[in-house]
Amino acid sequence: MRNKVIAGNWKMNKDLGETEKLINDLKTALNFNLIGSKVIICPPFPSLALAAKLIEGSPLELGAQNMHTEDEGAFTGEVSPKMLKAAGCRYVIVGHSERRQYFSETNEFINKKARKALASGLIPIICVGESLDEREKNITDQIVSVQVKGCLSEISAADMEKVIIAYEPVWAIGTGKNATPQQAQDVHRLIRKLISQLYSWTVAERVTIQYGGSVKADNAADLLHQPDIDGALVGGACLKPDSFSAIIQAAALSTKK
Ligand code: PGA
Repeated sequence: MRNKVIAGNWKMNKDLGETEKLINDLKTALNFNLIGSKVIICPPFPSLALAAKLIEGSPLELGAQNMHTEDEGAFTGEVSPKMLKAAGCRYVIVGHSERRQYFSETNEFINKKARKALASGLIPIICVGESLDEREKNITDQIVSVQVKGCLSEISAADMEKVIIAYEPVWAIGTGKNATPQQAQDVHRLIRKLISQLYSWTVAERVTIQYGGSVKADNAADLLHQPDIDGALVGGACLKPDSFSAIIQAAALSTKK
C-alpha cells in the first residue's frame, strides 16, 4: 500500500514571527505517534530556513512553493533549486493553478521545472486540474490528460516513481467546494491509468497522487479512503494547526484500514 502524503501549501501567508508560531502550534497539536504518513509544510521563501530549523528532529518535512529552472544567474526575483536545497527543502510544488493563472505558466515550463527539480535532488509536487468551465463542458479528462502528459515529458521511469502529482480542480481551490470523493477518485484513476500507459503499471502503482481543493478536517477522511487518493495538498486548512492535524490523523486512519 502507498503511504499517504499530506502537504500544506501556505501560499503567500505568514511572516517570520508568524511562521515560528504556526510551526510551534502545529508541533503541539500533532500527536507524533499518530502520524502514519509523510507530512510536508511549504512556507513562503523567506521563512524556509527558519522553518527548517524549527522542524529539526520532528517528522515534518520541508517543501517550497515554486522554483526557477536555473541554478543561478540574472533572473531577478527568482529562487533556484540549489538555494531551496541549501535552505533544507526536499520537495517543491510546481505548476500550481495559481502559477498557471497569474503567472502564465505552461505545461512545457512546468515540465522543465519538474525535470530540473529531479536533477537537483528535489521531489516535485506537480499540480494539474481543470477549471469550472472545463468541467461544465465535460472536458475534464482531456484537459487533465494534456496536463499530465505535458508535465511528465522526458521524465525517466526511475524518476517518475519519486514524483508526486496533485490533482486540484481549480473550481475547488479556496472556494469551500471540494470535489466529491467519487469525482476525485475518477480523475485520480484516470491519472494513474495515463501513467501506466506512459510508463508501466508497476510505476503507476508507486506514484503518489494527492487531491487538493478545499480539503478540510471534515471531508479529509472520505477523500483519503478512495483507493487512488494517496494524500492531500492542503491550502487554507493548513494554516490552522487543529485542522491540519485532524487531516493528518484522518490520513493515518485511512492507511490503517
Ligand atoms: P485550498 O487550497 O485547500 O485552500 O482550497 C489548496 C491549494 O491551492 O493547494
